[in-house]
Order: sequence, then C-alpha cells, then structure tokens
Amino acid sequence: AGATLVPTPPMGWNDWNAFGCDVDEQLVEQTADRLVSTGLRAAGYQYVNIDDCWMAKTRDAAGRLVPDPVKFPHGITGVAAYVHAKGLKLGIYESAGTMTCAGFPGSLGHEQQDADSFASWGVDYLKYDNCYNQGLPSLQRYRAMGDALAKTGRPIVYSLCNWGLDSVWTWGATVGQLWRTTGDIDASFGRMLDIFHANAKLADAAGPGGWNDPDMLEVGNGMTATEDRAHFSLWAEMAAPLIAGTDLRKASADTLAVYGNTEVISVDQDRLGKQGRPVSMAAGLDVLAKPLADGGVAVTLFNENPQPAVISTTAAAVGLPAAKGYLLRDLWAHTTGESAGAVSATVPGHGVVMYKVTPTDHPGGQHPDLVLDTKVP
Ligand code: GLA
Repeated sequence: AGATLVPTPPMGWNDWNAFGCDVDEQLVEQTADRLVSTGLRAAGYQYVNIDDCWMAKTRDAAGRLVPDPVKFPHGITGVAAYVHAKGLKLGIYESAGTMTCAGFPGSLGHEQQDADSFASWGVDYLKYDNCYNQGLPSLQRYRAMGDALAKTGRPIVYSLCNWGLDSVWTWGATVGQLWRTTGDIDASFGRMLDIFHANAKLADAAGPGGWNDPDMLEVGNGMTATEDRAHFSLWAEMAAPLIAGTDLRKASADTLAVYGNTEVISVDQDRLGKQGRPVSMAAGLDVLAKPLADGGVAVTLFNENPQPAVISTTAAAVGLPAAKGYLLRDLWAHTTGESAGAVSATVPGHGVVMYKVTPTDHPGGQHPDLVLDTKVP
C-alpha cells in the first residue's frame, strides 16, 4: 500500500508544534483556506492534520470515540468535508495505549472500532502515538492498528509515532508509511540538530512507500531565518515528511517563503526516493548528498557552528560521474553557476547552502538547453 499512498514523503500541516492542545474546527478550516491562498497546496502540501486533544474525555455508550462537541461542533465528519472540498486531505491522531499523551481515550484494545470511526468520518491519515503503552511491544501494538486500518478499505496514511523506539526503522515499512525516528522536536537549533544527527544515520531504511520521520517542521516558530532555512533544507535532503508546524494564518512572508521554496521541495519529493547521506561531517561542517532521478545530486552544505565557514566537496565525492563541467543550481538564491568539479561555498553560521549539481557537457556559462537551441544540426 505504501508505494501507492506515499510514493514520495507526505506533505501537509499539523497543529501540535504551534498550538499544543488548542485545536478546533476554526483553526483547521482556516488553515485549509490558508494552504490554498498562500499557494502551499499548489506546492504540494496536502494533509491537514489534527493532533492530540480533539476528542471528548470519554467514549460513548457504544464504546466509540467522540469528537469534543465544543471544539468540533460539526464532528470530524464536518471538518473532513470542509478540508476535502478545498482539495486537501484530513489527518487525525490517536495513541497505541490506554490514553493519548494528553490523557484522552487511547486506541489500545479498540483498534478496529476506532479505525472504523476514522474511515467513516473521512479521515485520510492517522498519526499513532505511543503514550500509556502498558509496556507492550511496539510491533504488536502498531501492527494491530495497521491491520484495522487495512480492514476499513479506506486508504489511510499510517504514521507511526513511537519516537524511534524498538528500532522502528527496521520494521516500520511492513506496518505503515512513515515512522518517527526520535523523541519530540522543539523550535530550538540544538534540538533540531540532535534530531538531524539521529535521523541522518538511517538513510538505508527510507524509500518510496516508507519514510523516516524526524518530526514535524518548526519553521516559523522561533529559530532565526537562517536556522529555519537550514532545518527545511536538511529535512528535504533527508526525504523527510514535510509537515508544516506553524500558524499559517499569521506566518510572515519569510516563513511562507521557506515552506514554499519549490526548488527545495522538489529535492524532498524527488521520485527516486533516496534519503540524502552524509558525505563528511568533520568539525560540524557537514556535506550531504541525495541522488536525484534525473542524474543530478542535491548537495547540502550545513554549518553547525555559529561562525561562518567555507565548506567544500567535489562532484566526484558526492557521487557524480566525470563530466566536462557541472551546473550548480543554488536552491535558495535561485541562481545557476558552473564548476569544473569543486562544490564549495561560504556558509553562514547555523545555515546552509543547498545546490542541485548536474553534470554538463557544455561548460562555459550557458545552460545546455540553450546551447542546444543554437546548435546547427
Ligand atoms: C507526543 C508526540 C507529539 C505530540 C504529542 C501530543 O509527545 O510525540 O508529536 O503528538 O504527543 O500529546
């Protein structure tokens, strides 16, 4: 199911990083509107995901989950219909335990009943958390919900949120479509950096249909603009799910420009589906390389240190074949340069320079397509 549901990493939005428990129908619907009006839907953001705290404190007499009637007066069905009418999809949250992390009824032992509720409400994506798990093995608990979702017959993207425990990356793809590889992110450079280091080691596990999930994006939530660009670039380089985590109704132009950088998004969404790998990481001066379907390589030069530094690699070192020259497309400056093989830049502290490097037989200042246009047959 994975390869058809998520041939490339899922993209969307989730309320948790910006709002915690303060989720309601208005927020979800206004965010859907904003995804459309900002152009983010057109850029690929598709799932509008509700996190914890959407339900009532108890199940109904028949044992079914009940949406909080104050927060969701039209139920999840109502909000799903609204989101679907905008050409978007709806996600929801539960936990593979007796309670959700915020203390609402959990799905452990209620998997089929809850999966049936989600399907009947029109849910397209489930983030399944790990709180109050009673010490039962992850695989058993996560498989139970995966089987229940499959039985509903509705295609539902299944996001395993067990915080990277029980080596989830070794079995996640047999159960769902993405799996958290770490504990929770926050809007600090240090935490983002730790998660990047952990997730970057797991490239072998990712591919079309099943993705490492280094948690949702904190772009717009408090890091500097330079750090936000680094965070977004690293997640794209690692073929991570791109789940925006800020208040899109109030996001600045800078924040929207990060989330909306279609050149960086194209790296994340490349159909080859390879997670970028570290080429070198000495002294906090990191080079990552992600092979792309068209034969190019996305290269992220990331400076972990606070001071600017030159970071250098070569076309050969990032896995490109020998060629007369290379085009270096700067995915943030949106300019194209050329090189005989060096890939190098002065990178701001806590920042990145991100290139798409493509071999060319036509060095000398022109794009090969332009050269071809003027060629006499
Ligand atoms: C856990 C998850 C978070 C979020 C909260 C909600 O901490 O890892 O992503 O869903 O629960 O309570």
